[in-house]
Amino acid sequence: MSRVLILYTSLTGNTEILAETIADYLKKHQHEVTLKHFEQDQITADEIKDYDATLIGIYTYDYGEIPFEVEFFFDELDEVDLTGCITGVFGAGDRFYGDTFGLAVDLMHDKLEERGATLDPERLKVDMDPEQDDIKRCEQLAERVIQKAIGKVNT
Ligand SMILES: Cc1cc2nc3c(=O)[nH]c(=O)nc-3n(C[C@H](O)[C@H](O)[C@H](O)COP(=O)(O)O)c2cc1C
Repeated sequence: MSRVLILYTSLTGNTEILAETIADYLKKHQHEVTLKHFEQDQITADEIKDYDATLIGIYTYDYGEIPFEVEFFFDELDEVDLTGCITGVFGAGDRFYGDTFGLAVDLMHDKLEERGATLDPERLKVDMDPEQDDIKRCEQLAERVIQKAIGKVNT
C-alpha cells in the first residue's frame, strides 16, 4: 500500500472528475489517498515530500496561465527540493484556445521537474468534459505513478 497525495483545482468540475477518477482507482487498489483542493484545503509545497507519490490536477485559465488559487503554491515550489519525489500532472483545458491548450499542465510539469521531482512523462490534458478514453488515461497515469512509487519503496 502506498500513500498518495492528490492536489487539484477545478472551476467548472472537469479537473475534479479527473482527480476523483484517479482517487477512486487508487483506493480500489488499496492505496491510501489524501485528496486536497487548492481553494478549500491548506496545502504547502513541502508536504509533497511526506507521500510516496503526488498527482496534481490543474485547469488552464486566462490564456495560458495557472489559476490564481495555485499561484502561491507554484511560487512556493521554488523553495523546495523535490529530488526523488514521484509526481504526475493532469488537467482540463479547452482546445478552442489553440497554442495555450492545457498550458498550465505544462507549466506545473516543468516546475516540478525543475525542482528535481521524478515525473510521469505524460502531460495529461483533457479537452473540456472527460470522455471514456480520458478516464482510461487517468487510470493509466495513476497505475504508472503507483508502480514507480512501489518500486521506490521496495528499493
Ligand atoms: C477566461 C478563460 C480563459 C481560459 N484560457 C484557457 C487557455 O488558455 N487554455 C485552455 O486550454 N483552456 C482555457 N480555458 C478553458 C478552461 O481551462 C476549460 O474550460 C477547462 O475545462 C476548465 O476546467 P475545470 O472544469 O476543471 O475548471 C479558459 C477559460 C476561461 C473562462
